[in-house]
Amino acid sequence: MDRIKIAFFDAKDYDMQSFMEANADEKYEIKYLETRLTEDTCVLAEGCDVVCVFVNDDVNPNVIDRLQSMGVKLVALRCAGYNNVDVEYAYGKIHVVRVPAYSPYAVAEHAIALLLTSIRRIHKAYIRTKDFNFSLNGMTGFDLHGKTVGVVGTGKIGRIFIDICRGFGMNIIAYDKFPAKDSEIEYVTLDELWERSDIISLHCPLTDENLHMINEETMKKMKKGVVIINTSRGALIDTEALVEGIKARHIGAACLDVYEEESNIFFHDYSNHIVNDDTLARLISMPNVIVTSHQAFLTNEALRNIADTTFDNVRSFFENETCVNEVCYKCANISNCNQSHDKKCF
Ligand code: NAI
Repeated sequence: MDRIKIAFFDAKDYDMQSFMEANADEKYEIKYLETRLTEDTCVLAEGCDVVCVFVNDDVNPNVIDRLQSMGVKLVALRCAGYNNVDVEYAYGKIHVVRVPAYSPYAVAEHAIALLLTSIRRIHKAYIRTKDFNFSLNGMTGFDLHGKTVGVVGTGKIGRIFIDICRGFGMNIIAYDKFPAKDSEIEYVTLDELWERSDIISLHCPLTDENLHMINEETMKKMKKGVVIINTSRGALIDTEALVEGIKARHIGAACLDVYEEESNIFFHDYSNHIVNDDTLARLISMPNVIVTSHQAFLTNEALRNIADTTFDNVRSFFENETCVNEVCYKCANISNCNQSHDKKCF
Protein backbone atom coordinates (compact mmCIF):
# COMPACT_ATOMS: atom_id res chain seq x y z
CA MET A 1 0.00 0.00 0.00
CA ASP A 2 1.20 3.52 -0.81
CA ARG A 3 2.05 5.75 2.10
CA ILE A 4 -1.08 7.11 3.75
CA LYS A 5 -1.40 10.84 3.06
CA ILE A 6 -2.58 13.13 5.82
CA ALA A 7 -3.65 16.78 5.46
CA PHE A 8 -2.85 18.31 8.84
CA PHE A 9 -4.92 21.48 9.36
CA ASP A 10 -4.31 24.31 11.84
CA ALA A 11 -0.70 23.15 12.31
CA LYS A 12 1.32 24.92 14.99
CA ASP A 13 5.05 24.63 15.71
CA TYR A 14 4.51 22.59 18.86
CA ASP A 15 2.25 19.96 17.29
CA MET A 16 4.33 19.73 14.11
CA GLN A 17 7.32 18.95 16.33
CA SER A 18 5.56 16.17 18.24
CA PHE A 19 4.05 14.66 15.06
CA MET A 20 7.39 14.78 13.26
CA GLU A 21 9.02 12.96 16.19
CA ALA A 22 6.27 10.32 16.25
CA ASN A 23 6.57 9.96 12.45
CA ALA A 24 10.39 9.83 12.45
CA ASP A 25 10.33 6.76 10.16
CA GLU A 26 8.19 8.80 7.71
CA LYS A 27 5.62 6.05 7.52
CA TYR A 28 3.00 8.70 6.78
CA GLU A 29 3.15 11.50 4.24
CA ILE A 30 1.96 14.58 6.09
CA LYS A 31 1.05 17.91 4.55
CA TYR A 32 1.21 20.49 7.36
CA LEU A 33 -1.18 23.38 6.72
CA GLU A 34 -1.30 26.51 8.84
CA THR A 35 -4.86 27.29 7.85
CA ARG A 36 -7.92 25.95 9.63
CA LEU A 37 -10.21 23.50 7.85
CA THR A 38 -13.21 25.37 6.44
CA GLU A 39 -15.37 25.14 3.34
CA ASP A 40 -12.85 27.38 1.59
CA THR A 41 -9.76 25.41 2.58
CA CYS A 42 -10.90 21.78 2.36
CA VAL A 43 -9.68 21.71 -1.25
CA LEU A 44 -6.16 21.56 0.23
CA ALA A 45 -6.92 17.97 1.27
CA GLU A 46 -7.11 16.90 -2.39
CA GLY A 47 -5.26 13.60 -2.82
CA CYS A 48 -5.16 12.87 0.92
CA ASP A 49 -6.65 9.86 2.72
CA VAL A 50 -7.01 11.57 6.08
CA VAL A 51 -7.63 15.05 7.41
CA CYS A 52 -6.18 15.67 10.85
CA VAL A 53 -8.01 18.47 12.66
CA PHE A 54 -8.12 20.29 15.99
CA VAL A 55 -10.76 22.03 18.11
CA ASN A 56 -11.46 25.03 15.88
CA ASP A 57 -11.53 23.31 12.50
CA ASP A 58 -15.05 23.32 11.14
CA VAL A 59 -16.21 19.90 9.98
CA ASN A 60 -19.72 20.90 8.89
CA PRO A 61 -21.96 19.09 6.34
CA ASN A 62 -20.55 21.02 3.35
CA VAL A 63 -17.00 20.22 4.40
CA ILE A 64 -17.93 16.57 4.93
CA ASP A 65 -19.46 16.37 1.42
CA ARG A 66 -16.38 17.98 -0.14
CA LEU A 67 -13.98 15.72 1.73
CA GLN A 68 -15.98 12.63 0.79
CA SER A 69 -16.07 13.64 -2.87
CA MET A 70 -12.28 14.08 -2.82
CA GLY A 71 -11.86 10.54 -1.46
CA VAL A 72 -10.89 11.45 2.12
CA LYS A 73 -11.87 8.48 4.27
CA LEU A 74 -11.04 9.56 7.78
CA VAL A 75 -11.29 12.68 9.95
CA ALA A 76 -8.70 12.23 12.68
CA LEU A 77 -9.35 14.66 15.50
CA ARG A 78 -6.22 15.33 17.53
CA CYS A 79 -8.36 16.28 20.52
CA ALA A 80 -11.02 14.72 22.77
CA GLY A 81 -14.02 17.01 22.18
CA TYR A 82 -15.83 16.67 18.84
CA ASN A 83 -18.49 19.40 19.00
CA ASN A 84 -16.90 20.98 15.89
CA VAL A 85 -17.76 17.89 13.81
CA ASP A 86 -21.28 17.17 12.59
CA VAL A 87 -21.02 13.52 13.55
CA GLU A 88 -24.62 12.75 12.64
CA TYR A 89 -24.11 14.06 9.12
CA ALA A 90 -20.78 12.26 8.86
CA TYR A 91 -22.34 8.90 9.73
CA GLY A 92 -22.21 6.61 6.72
CA LYS A 93 -20.06 9.09 4.76
CA ILE A 94 -16.75 9.54 6.49
CA HIS A 95 -15.34 8.00 9.64
CA VAL A 96 -14.32 10.17 12.58
CA VAL A 97 -11.76 9.22 15.21
CA ARG A 98 -10.50 11.19 18.16
CA VAL A 99 -7.94 11.08 20.95
CA PRO A 100 -10.16 10.40 23.96
CA ALA A 101 -7.48 11.09 26.56
CA TYR A 102 -4.04 12.56 26.11
CA SER A 103 -3.34 13.92 29.51
CA PRO A 104 -6.31 14.45 31.74
CA TYR A 105 -3.72 15.54 34.33
CA ALA A 106 -2.65 18.44 32.10
CA VAL A 107 -6.19 19.86 31.96
CA ALA A 108 -7.07 19.23 35.61
CA GLU A 109 -3.77 20.75 36.77
CA HIS A 110 -4.32 23.79 34.54
CA ALA A 111 -7.77 24.30 36.06
CA ILE A 112 -6.16 24.29 39.51
CA ALA A 113 -3.40 26.64 38.31
CA LEU A 114 -6.05 29.10 37.11
CA LEU A 115 -7.96 28.81 40.37
CA LEU A 116 -4.91 29.41 42.59
CA THR A 117 -3.69 32.24 40.37
CA SER A 118 -7.06 33.91 40.57
CA ILE A 119 -7.86 33.62 44.25
CA ARG A 120 -4.30 34.36 45.46
CA ARG A 121 -3.86 37.20 42.92
CA ILE A 122 -0.65 35.69 41.52
CA HIS A 123 -1.26 37.38 38.15
CA LYS A 124 -1.31 40.74 39.94
CA ALA A 125 1.65 39.95 42.21
CA TYR A 126 3.79 38.93 39.21
CA ILE A 127 3.28 42.29 37.53
CA ARG A 128 3.64 44.29 40.76
CA THR A 129 6.94 42.80 41.88
CA LYS A 130 8.34 43.05 38.32
CA ASP A 131 7.80 46.79 38.82
CA PHE A 132 9.29 46.71 42.35
CA ASN A 133 5.86 47.41 43.79
CA PHE A 134 5.74 45.38 47.00
CA SER A 135 2.42 46.71 48.31
CA LEU A 136 -0.13 44.12 49.42
CA ASN A 137 -3.22 46.30 49.06
CA GLY A 138 -5.92 44.52 47.10
CA MET A 139 -4.11 41.18 47.25
CA THR A 140 -6.22 39.43 49.91
CA GLY A 141 -7.31 35.96 48.84
CA PHE A 142 -9.17 33.13 50.54
CA ASP A 143 -8.33 29.60 51.72
CA LEU A 144 -9.44 26.71 49.54
CA HIS A 145 -9.52 24.46 52.61
CA GLY A 146 -13.11 23.91 53.73
CA LYS A 147 -14.66 25.49 50.62
CA THR A 148 -17.20 23.63 48.48
CA VAL A 149 -16.32 22.98 44.87
CA GLY A 150 -19.03 21.91 42.42
CA VAL A 151 -17.70 19.77 39.56
CA VAL A 152 -19.83 19.39 36.43
CA GLY A 153 -18.71 16.25 34.61
CA THR A 154 -16.90 13.51 36.52
CA GLY A 155 -15.09 11.79 33.65
CA LYS A 156 -11.33 11.49 33.34
CA ILE A 157 -10.50 15.16 33.88
CA GLY A 158 -13.23 15.85 36.44
CA ARG A 159 -12.10 12.93 38.61
CA ILE A 160 -8.47 14.08 38.66
CA PHE A 161 -9.61 17.62 39.44
CA ILE A 162 -11.66 16.18 42.33
CA ASP A 163 -8.66 14.24 43.66
CA ILE A 164 -6.53 17.39 43.67
CA CYS A 165 -9.29 19.36 45.40
CA ARG A 166 -9.55 16.65 48.06
CA GLY A 167 -5.83 17.21 48.72
CA PHE A 168 -6.63 20.83 49.52
CA GLY A 169 -9.27 19.74 52.07
CA MET A 170 -12.18 20.99 49.99
CA ASN A 171 -15.73 19.61 50.07
CA ILE A 172 -16.72 18.14 46.73
CA ILE A 173 -20.15 17.97 45.15
CA ALA A 174 -20.75 16.97 41.55
CA TYR A 175 -23.25 16.68 38.75
CA ASP A 176 -22.93 14.27 35.85
CA LYS A 177 -25.50 13.17 33.32
CA PHE A 178 -24.21 9.65 33.84
CA PRO A 179 -23.05 9.55 37.48
CA ALA A 180 -20.33 7.05 38.35
CA LYS A 181 -21.79 4.23 40.41
CA ASP A 182 -18.59 3.05 42.04
CA SER A 183 -17.32 6.32 43.50
CA GLU A 184 -17.46 8.22 46.77
CA ILE A 185 -18.54 11.36 44.94
CA GLU A 186 -21.59 13.18 46.34
CA TYR A 187 -23.81 13.71 43.30
CA VAL A 188 -26.40 16.50 43.48
CA THR A 189 -28.80 18.12 41.04
CA LEU A 190 -27.48 20.97 38.92
CA ASP A 191 -29.62 23.46 40.87
CA GLU A 192 -28.16 22.24 44.15
CA LEU A 193 -24.67 22.46 42.71
CA TRP A 194 -25.22 26.08 41.62
CA GLU A 195 -26.62 26.95 45.06
CA ARG A 196 -24.02 25.28 47.29
CA SER A 197 -20.73 25.84 45.46
CA ASP A 198 -18.07 28.43 46.32
CA ILE A 199 -16.21 27.35 43.21
CA ILE A 200 -17.68 25.73 40.07
CA SER A 201 -15.53 23.88 37.55
CA LEU A 202 -16.84 22.58 34.22
CA HIS A 203 -15.50 19.25 32.93
CA CYS A 204 -18.28 17.98 30.66
CA PRO A 205 -18.49 17.97 26.86
CA LEU A 206 -20.48 20.61 25.00
CA THR A 207 -23.72 19.22 23.58
CA ASP A 208 -26.96 20.74 22.26
CA GLU A 209 -28.58 20.26 25.66
CA ASN A 210 -25.96 22.01 27.80
CA LEU A 211 -25.19 24.98 25.53
CA HIS A 212 -25.08 28.05 27.83
CA MET A 213 -25.69 25.93 30.92
CA ILE A 214 -24.23 28.87 32.85
CA ASN A 215 -26.54 31.75 31.95
CA GLU A 216 -28.36 34.67 33.55
CA GLU A 217 -30.90 32.39 35.26
CA THR A 218 -28.46 29.79 36.58
CA MET A 219 -26.05 32.49 37.77
CA LYS A 220 -28.84 33.96 39.91
CA LYS A 221 -28.91 30.66 41.82
CA MET A 222 -25.19 30.83 42.58
CA LYS A 223 -23.60 32.19 45.74
CA LYS A 224 -22.40 35.78 45.62
CA GLY A 225 -18.65 35.69 45.02
CA VAL A 226 -18.61 32.28 43.31
CA VAL A 227 -15.52 31.49 41.22
CA ILE A 228 -16.27 29.88 37.85
CA ILE A 229 -13.64 27.79 36.05
CA ASN A 230 -14.13 26.64 32.47
CA THR A 231 -11.51 24.45 30.83
CA SER A 232 -14.09 22.47 28.79
CA ARG A 233 -15.79 24.35 25.97
CA GLY A 234 -16.56 28.07 25.79
CA ALA A 235 -20.22 27.77 24.81
CA LEU A 236 -21.07 26.06 28.10
CA ILE A 237 -21.19 29.65 29.37
CA ASP A 238 -23.27 32.53 28.02
CA THR A 239 -20.33 34.94 28.02
CA GLU A 240 -22.36 38.14 27.81
CA ALA A 241 -24.37 37.03 30.83
CA LEU A 242 -21.10 36.26 32.61
CA VAL A 243 -19.82 39.77 31.94
CA GLU A 244 -23.04 41.18 33.43
CA GLY A 245 -22.75 38.85 36.44
CA ILE A 246 -19.21 40.07 37.11
CA LYS A 247 -20.16 43.72 36.60
CA ALA A 248 -22.99 43.24 39.14
CA ARG A 249 -20.33 41.91 41.59
CA HIS A 250 -22.32 38.67 41.87
CA ILE A 251 -19.69 36.46 40.22
CA GLY A 252 -16.46 36.73 42.21
CA ALA A 253 -14.04 35.59 39.53
CA ALA A 254 -13.85 33.71 36.24
CA CYS A 255 -11.01 31.47 35.08
CA LEU A 256 -11.45 30.73 31.39
CA ASP A 257 -9.28 28.54 29.19
CA VAL A 258 -12.01 28.44 26.55
CA TYR A 259 -14.32 31.06 25.07
CA GLU A 260 -17.39 30.56 22.92
CA GLU A 261 -16.10 32.82 20.13
CA GLU A 262 -12.51 31.61 20.38
CA SER A 263 -12.20 30.00 16.96
CA ASN A 264 -10.91 33.06 15.08
CA ILE A 265 -8.91 34.45 17.98
CA PHE A 266 -7.25 31.81 20.13
CA PHE A 267 -3.91 30.34 19.01
CA HIS A 268 -3.06 33.57 17.10
CA ASP A 269 -0.91 36.56 18.02
CA TYR A 270 -3.03 39.71 17.91
CA SER A 271 -0.74 41.76 20.14
CA ASN A 272 -0.32 44.42 17.42
CA HIS A 273 -3.99 44.54 16.49
CA ILE A 274 -7.20 46.02 17.80
CA VAL A 275 -9.30 42.99 18.70
CA ASN A 276 -12.86 43.46 17.46
CA ASP A 277 -14.47 41.18 20.02
CA ASP A 278 -15.81 43.62 22.64
CA THR A 279 -17.02 40.86 24.96
CA LEU A 280 -13.59 39.26 25.15
CA ALA A 281 -11.91 42.66 25.50
CA ARG A 282 -14.24 43.52 28.40
CA LEU A 283 -13.53 40.22 30.09
CA ILE A 284 -9.77 40.60 29.74
CA SER A 285 -9.99 44.12 31.20
CA MET A 286 -11.49 42.79 34.43
CA PRO A 287 -9.04 42.21 37.31
CA ASN A 288 -10.90 39.11 38.49
CA VAL A 289 -10.92 37.36 35.11
CA ILE A 290 -8.07 35.21 33.84
CA VAL A 291 -8.13 34.05 30.24
CA THR A 292 -5.74 31.49 28.81
CA SER A 293 -5.83 30.58 25.14
CA HIS A 294 -7.11 26.98 25.22
CA GLN A 295 -3.76 25.87 26.57
CA ALA A 296 -4.88 23.48 29.33
CA PHE A 297 -3.83 20.47 27.27
CA LEU A 298 -0.42 21.88 26.36
CA THR A 299 2.19 19.72 28.07
CA ASN A 300 4.99 17.63 26.55
CA GLU A 301 3.30 14.46 27.76
CA ALA A 302 -0.03 15.38 26.20
CA LEU A 303 1.47 16.39 22.84
CA ARG A 304 3.33 13.10 22.57
CA ASN A 305 0.20 11.12 23.51
CA ILE A 306 -1.86 13.04 20.94
CA ALA A 307 0.61 12.22 18.17
CA ASP A 308 0.98 8.55 19.16
CA THR A 309 -2.77 7.97 19.52
CA THR A 310 -3.56 9.77 16.25
CA PHE A 311 -1.12 7.54 14.36
CA ASP A 312 -2.51 4.45 16.14
CA ASN A 313 -6.02 5.51 15.09
CA VAL A 314 -4.97 5.95 11.46
CA ARG A 315 -3.02 2.70 11.45
CA SER A 316 -5.87 0.66 12.94
CA PHE A 317 -8.34 2.18 10.47
CA PHE A 318 -6.35 1.41 7.34
CA GLU A 319 -4.39 -1.69 8.36
CA ASN A 320 -6.61 -3.63 10.76
CA GLU A 321 -10.05 -2.45 9.67
CA THR A 322 -10.74 -1.58 13.30
CA CYS A 323 -11.56 1.75 14.81
CA VAL A 324 -11.09 1.83 18.57
CA ASN A 325 -11.53 5.57 19.03
CA GLU A 326 -14.28 6.14 16.49
CA VAL A 327 -17.06 8.64 17.25
CA CYS A 328 -20.38 8.49 15.49
CA TYR A 329 -23.70 10.14 16.26
CA LYS A 330 -24.82 7.01 18.06
CA CYS A 331 -21.71 7.15 20.24
CA ALA A 332 -22.43 10.83 20.83
CA ASN A 333 -26.08 10.46 21.74
CA ILE A 334 -26.21 7.39 23.88
CA SER A 335 -22.66 7.71 25.14
CA ASN A 336 -22.03 4.12 24.16
CA CYS A 337 -22.28 3.21 20.51
CA ASN A 338 -24.11 0.01 19.72
CA GLN A 339 -21.07 -1.15 17.82
CA SER A 340 -18.42 -2.86 19.87
CA HIS A 341 -15.60 -0.58 18.64
CA ASP A 342 -13.50 -3.55 17.60
CA LYS A 343 -14.87 -2.80 14.15
CA LYS A 344 -15.99 0.36 12.38
CA CYS A 345 -19.27 2.04 13.39
CA PHE A 346 -20.65 1.67 9.84
P1 NAI B 1 -14.84 12.31 29.66
O1 NAI B 1 -15.63 11.81 28.51
O2 NAI B 1 -13.89 11.38 30.35
O3 NAI B 1 -15.83 12.88 30.77
C1 NAI B 1 -16.92 13.71 30.47
C2 NAI B 1 -17.95 13.51 31.56
O4 NAI B 1 -19.02 14.45 31.32
C3 NAI B 1 -18.56 12.11 31.58
O5 NAI B 1 -18.56 11.59 32.89
C4 NAI B 1 -19.97 12.33 31.05
O6 NAI B 1 -20.91 11.41 31.63
C5 NAI B 1 -20.24 13.74 31.51
N1 NAI B 1 -21.31 14.41 30.76
C6 NAI B 1 -21.70 14.22 29.49
N2 NAI B 1 -22.70 15.06 29.18
C7 NAI B 1 -22.94 15.80 30.29
C8 NAI B 1 -23.85 16.83 30.60
N3 NAI B 1 -24.73 17.28 29.72
N4 NAI B 1 -23.83 17.34 31.86
C9 NAI B 1 -22.94 16.89 32.77
N5 NAI B 1 -22.05 15.92 32.54
C10 NAI B 1 -22.05 15.38 31.30
O7 NAI B 1 -14.10 13.62 29.13
P2 NAI B 1 -12.79 14.31 29.73
O8 NAI B 1 -11.58 13.72 29.11
O9 NAI B 1 -12.89 14.36 31.20
O10 NAI B 1 -12.93 15.79 29.10
C11 NAI B 1 -13.96 16.67 29.52
C12 NAI B 1 -13.99 17.86 28.58
O11 NAI B 1 -12.80 18.61 28.72
C13 NAI B 1 -14.02 17.50 27.08
O12 NAI B 1 -15.35 17.25 26.64
C14 NAI B 1 -13.46 18.73 26.43
O13 NAI B 1 -14.51 19.60 26.11
C15 NAI B 1 -12.60 19.35 27.53
N6 NAI B 1 -11.17 19.35 27.21
C16 NAI B 1 -10.52 20.55 27.21
C17 NAI B 1 -9.16 20.61 26.95
C18 NAI B 1 -8.42 21.91 26.99
O14 NAI B 1 -7.26 21.97 26.56
N7 NAI B 1 -8.99 22.97 27.53
C19 NAI B 1 -8.42 19.39 26.59
C20 NAI B 1 -9.19 18.19 26.69
C21 NAI B 1 -10.52 18.18 26.96
